[in-house]
Amino acid sequence: MIEQLTEKRTHTCGELKLTQVNLQVTLQGWVHRRRDHGSLIFIDIRDIHGLTQIVFDPNESEDLYTRAKELKPEYVIAVTGKVRPRPAGMVNKNLATGEVEILVSSFKIYNLAKTTPFPIIDQVDATEEHRFQYRYLDLRRPEMQKNLIIRSRTAKIFRQYLDSQNFLEIETPFLMRSTPEGARDFLVPSRIHPGKFYALPQSPQTYKQVLMVAGYDRYYQIVKCFRDEDLRADRQPEFTQVDLEMSFIDEQDVFKIVEEVMLKVFDSILHVKLQRPFPVLTYEAALEKYGSDKPDLRFKMQIHEISHLVAESEFKVFSATVKQQGIVAGINLKNGANYSRKQIDSLNQFVIELGGKGVLTAKVTPGEWESSFRKFLSDAQVVEINEKMESEAGDLLIFIAGEKWKTLDQLGRLRLKLAEDEALIKSNQYEPLWVVDFPLLEFDQESNRYNAMHHPFTSPRREDLEMLETNPLQVKARAYDLVINGYEIAGGSIRNHQQEIQMRIFNLLKIDVQEAQEKFGFLLDALKYGAPPHGGIAFGFDRLVMILAGCTSIRDVIAFPKTTSAISLMDNSPSQVDEAQLRELKISILKE
Ligand code: AMO
Repeated sequence: MIEQLTEKRTHTCGELKLTQVNLQVTLQGWVHRRRDHGSLIFIDIRDIHGLTQIVFDPNESEDLYTRAKELKPEYVIAVTGKVRPRPAGMVNKNLATGEVEILVSSFKIYNLAKTTPFPIIDQVDATEEHRFQYRYLDLRRPEMQKNLIIRSRTAKIFRQYLDSQNFLEIETPFLMRSTPEGARDFLVPSRIHPGKFYALPQSPQTYKQVLMVAGYDRYYQIVKCFRDEDLRADRQPEFTQVDLEMSFIDEQDVFKIVEEVMLKVFDSILHVKLQRPFPVLTYEAALEKYGSDKPDLRFKMQIHEISHLVAESEFKVFSATVKQQGIVAGINLKNGANYSRKQIDSLNQFVIELGGKGVLTAKVTPGEWESSFRKFLSDAQVVEINEKMESEAGDLLIFIAGEKWKTLDQLGRLRLKLAEDEALIKSNQYEPLWVVDFPLLEFDQESNRYNAMHHPFTSPRREDLEMLETNPLQVKARAYDLVINGYEIAGGSIRNHQQEIQMRIFNLLKIDVQEAQEKFGFLLDALKYGAPPHGGIAFGFDRLVMILAGCTSIRDVIAFPKTTSAISLMDNSPSQVDEAQLRELKISILKE
């Protein structure tokens, strides 16, 4: 029999302890599991707070006991009964309520449930597609609930902290003019202005700068951003930023705010004490030491360039590469000398698949090397390389020779692969750092023009201003990224608050006066009316929560994510729309 809701719960399913023994309580939740143990029926009742064991004893009530046999997983019920200690030997130390159980004196069924397509348990063996299609069931699983609880608590810490620092939370429009953040826009057709489109914001960048001109000198917002780009584990077409901007500040002020809030978040969510200040690496040093602009510092294995040590060697692969302006660099896999031929071949293959030529290796033995090219190097060269790479007997040295940035990139990826293969990364380890001094521009061969590496509103370093037109690729930006455990968690910059410098940058980007006026006229105009020096940053909130929750995909910390092909499997979007809707918007679909 299905009954109406008339009672209220006295406790949640994660709450009862020995202190409540003998208390009459009511719980509401879902049937998690039923176990019929000879003369007794045990049911775990579940809500978002936990599980509690309830017991039906035929000696207490034959009727209740018989009715309890109807209860199936995911039925929604209320139970009333007395809390009692579990018998010795039946205590479950892994459960918050594991010392007690409820002897049921009455219960109600609010709703029945079909057999679920996958069990509502952690480590479920269901495909992601299946989980997304039945997201309401997937989100019932405790590990997903834990993730969303962490997400909510993290947002709250940001709000509390930023509020304490006098930031104002201000909303900005979702229907706006397109801004250039580097990805494609999602467009929204205007019915009132047929043929015209709004763009969904790739970020609130231009609005937050306008707010600075308007004198709101500390702004923040937890805000959805929309980017039509290729998706991966840490990218969604709509994602959330904690976006902030401040006036009358420099880089150090931004670092202070970000570091302080990170200390609070990690302490409160994970009880991990991060140390301030976070280390700072330049973009160039990050690439040279770790082969990545978002280095994972949880393990060392730095890249060492040995070009100068082997430029004159008889080993042609090395010396010829250096002569052709390439580099020779390597990493030291500690205690890797026991790698088999097959294992080394797989490293070689890994690099070839990245577009490289492969790896050259040397096994370090006491005072010597075991390596196919040892004979081409002098004893002195081997000693120098050993010193540089901090080699010890038992290590495996892995070298790549080739074009500088490609070689560093390949070694960087190899470094990550080896860390995974060798389980070098401890869980519960968090290594934040700042990456700074990014180039302002990068040259795009395809379009034969410069692109802004961060976004076009980023200020060049003052001391580099005079090179802006003469040597633009040498100009460094006042941009900074916060990296944690190899993920870019936040990115920002000090902005151009003077219109003249902003125009010089547009000029370099081949955005002419007319185009600049058309696209960002409002911002350029605003800069003419007393714009204060300002800057800011935006956190990729999903990525941060992913790290806090110990997940490897942001899809696991977003309630209703899209698949990697940008589909929402629960509501089946994107979908076709009625002819009539299209007609109203004056849109016709091109047949390819
Ligand atoms: P940026 O483009 O670096 O900067 O974005 C800020 C942070 O947002 C996260 N992020 C994403 N997360 C999930 N899915 C995506 N598709 C995605 N794209 C970016 C990253 C990134 O560090 N307006 C500037 C900020 C500023 O200059 O203040 C901006 O949006 O973690």
